[in-house]
Amino acid sequence: MTLKQGELLLDRYRIIEVLGHGGMGSIFRAVDENLGVEVAVKENLFTIEDYARQFRREATILASLRHPNMPRVSDHFSLEDQGQYLIMDYIEGEDLQEKLEHQGPFEEEEVVFIGASICDALAYMHSRDPAVLHRDIKPANVRITPGGEIYLVDFGLAKLMHGDLTTTTGARAMTMGFSPPEQYGAARTDARTDIYSLGATLYTALTGLTPEDSLAQTMDQIELTPVRERNPKVSKRVAEAVEKALQVHPNDRFQLAAEFKNELLKAQSGRFNVNFNLDQVGPTQTKKSSKKRKDKLSSPGVITKEIAKKNGKKKAESPAKKKKPEMPRKRIDRGGCLSLIALLSFILILSLAVFSLLNPILAKNLFNFLF
Ligand SMILES: Nc1ncnc2c1ncn2[C@@H]1O[C@H](COP(=O)(O)OP(=O)(O)O)[C@@H](O)[C@H]1O
Ligand SMILES: [Mg+2]
Repeated sequence: MTLKQGELLLDRYRIIEVLGHGGMGSIFRAVDENLGVEVAVKENLFTIEDYARQFRREATILASLRHPNMPRVSDHFSLEDQGQYLIMDYIEGEDLQEKLEHQGPFEEEEVVFIGASICDALAYMHSRDPAVLHRDIKPANVRITPGGEIYLVDFGLAKLMHGDLTTTTGARAMTMGFSPPEQYGAARTDARTDIYSLGATLYTALTGLTPEDSLAQTMDQIELTPVRERNPKVSKRVAEAVEKALQVHPNDRFQLAAEFKNELLKAQSGRFNVNFNLDQVGPTQTKKSSKKRKDKLSSPGVITKEIAKKNGKKKAESPAKKKKPEMPRKRIDRGGCLSLIALLSFILILSLAVFSLLNPILAKNLFNFLF
């Protein structure tokens, strides 16, 4: 039986509202009355062994991970004749899917930031021992807070990789448009599977449309429509990075999440001259550095207003959303300074030449005086 609004779960978690309905149960916003903080409660009502095992796996995998772009799990328990529950950080805001529905495609610099943040989470997961694969990256599983922080959620299909072996048999499932071909059959999934799904997620964020399904592409039925054909505003390099992640053959994709991140950031810095630290393969955003990051990127909450305006939507905005969007800071580079000095010298020489032509005697006296 599903939880009701106002219900107290385990004498501790007060249910506030339903956040969404998933495959195995709903997800709720609640208050942890012991600690006085908001939490998300994910329930599984299907207590038959397979589902229960899958849900336990999500809990234990998530509990072992600590990353600024992932919610932390604080509790996991089962209640007899009722269900299984997972308690984790509540991530306020909306998921990328909801935002896309409300406001249409995102600006390129936001997509790059989202991509870089998820790459950080993936680089961390993929470098665990055993490596953790998410296997269900899609817009509905990326949450964006009003402050612009990015979180990867829903580890229901996550899988542990033990060396070269195909692992703990997690549930196999796929989402049209977001799963690479190797996820459809019995083929081996690895870190590059997540890279493909992230590429498909960024493609959707840039264009508002899901990429053509990978299986149909492998069978030569259709081809991937280039990003810039769907949104010509996207820079060539960012489009190329996303399309590389979306290659049907794993060997043609980025092999590591850090490579994908660096390519996205380089493409972005080339276009907007944003001062990203390209040497940094660590987190794009940490809780401590989030203030610094906000200087570099306007918050998606803010952009909501911009895009809603563009789409002619008149939605009530919270006060936080009324701030003017800040563009990424531009760097005054050395090249710019040198060109300015050259231009000023040129103007000085030109004025001296004009002056000596107009007034040769004065110019001669000035020359004698100087030399
Ligand atoms: N920790 C969380 N805080 C807030 N909302 C969340 C959290 N985890 C998931 N959600 C939201 O609930 C929705 C469903 O949760 P999810 O874990 O994806 O369930 P399912 O496995 O049923 O897809 C997600 O799309 C997301 O928007
Ligand atoms: Mg989900």
